[in-house]
Amino acid sequence: MDIIICGIGGRMGTAVYEAACVAPGVNVVAGVDKRCEGSFGFPVYPGFDQCKERCDVVIDFSRPDALEQIISYCERTGAAAVLATTGYTQQHREMIEKAAEKIPILQSSNMSLGVNLLTELVRKAAEALPDFDIEIVEKHHNRKVDAPSGTALMLAESVNSAFSGKKKYIFGRHSSNEPRTKEEIGIHAIRGGTVAGVHDVMFLGNDEIVTLSHTALSRRIFEEGALKAAFFLKDKSPGLYSMRDLFRK
Ligand SMILES: NC(=O)c1ccc[n+]([C@@H]2O[C@H](COP(=O)([O-])OP(=O)(O)OC[C@H]3O[C@@H](n4cnc5c(N)ncnc54)[C@H](O)[C@@H]3O)[C@@H](O)[C@H]2O)c1
Repeated sequence: MDIIICGIGGRMGTAVYEAACVAPGVNVVAGVDKRCEGSFGFPVYPGFDQCKERCDVVIDFSRPDALEQIISYCERTGAAAVLATTGYTQQHREMIEKAAEKIPILQSSNMSLGVNLLTELVRKAAEALPDFDIEIVEKHHNRKVDAPSGTALMLAESVNSAFSGKKKYIFGRHSSNEPRTKEEIGIHAIRGGTVAGVHDVMFLGNDEIVTLSHTALSRRIFEEGALKAAFFLKDKSPGLYSMRDLFRK
């Protein structure tokens, strides 16, 4: 499988590159990064418009503003795209859905097996405990730029699907002087140190709390998940896939 890594100069891009070097059947043909000083045994371009190489799958861990050029490269060359970047807006999501009519795309804010299982478990817990208050607390390293994490939003969406999407998201409560309502899901972000990612989904009832939690002990789970996703996507028909599709195989 030939891959191009977008964001290759970053923490995750570099980790994917290192994992790809030792993964059987994976060949990195190029990298794309706005700012990259590293030297690799293949070309690294500042943008996809200059990229001459073709690949089976683009693996993207960069920033949402790279999306447009990734999609146009994939549409032009027939490559598939694993989109692991977080912080997409509604407009980006619509762009992804439209592109998935022409190319295979797997988008996930979290590439780990455990978190994708957690998204299923929190929906079941929400169905079983519909009257409990639900709060999500996530913790990440001090270099993370988006808050709350894409994973916290993914978990919130999964919880909310148990309520037909009717719950509102409340991000912190700093300027609020009102008690919480039953219609909300509280989402809170903590930033510091080198934390790879902790997500706690709390169901708070009268005199009891159920907490479903996932802790990433290193970023390895994300790079390995991204390579698994690329293998899964390689020969798929156009469509929008998620990590959960891998586990349903
Ligand atoms: N889905 C997951 O499992 C998962 C896991 C970890 C991180 N992430 C996400 O992946 C992204 C990258 O994380 P990171 O920790 O490696 O960040 P980082 O800041 O270390 O690296 C990002 C890299 O992308 C490059 N870049 C920025 N804009 C670009 C553009 N328009 N085109 C090409 N390259 C561009 C930067 O120069 C940088 O080298 C973030 O959105 C992060 O939240 C997702």
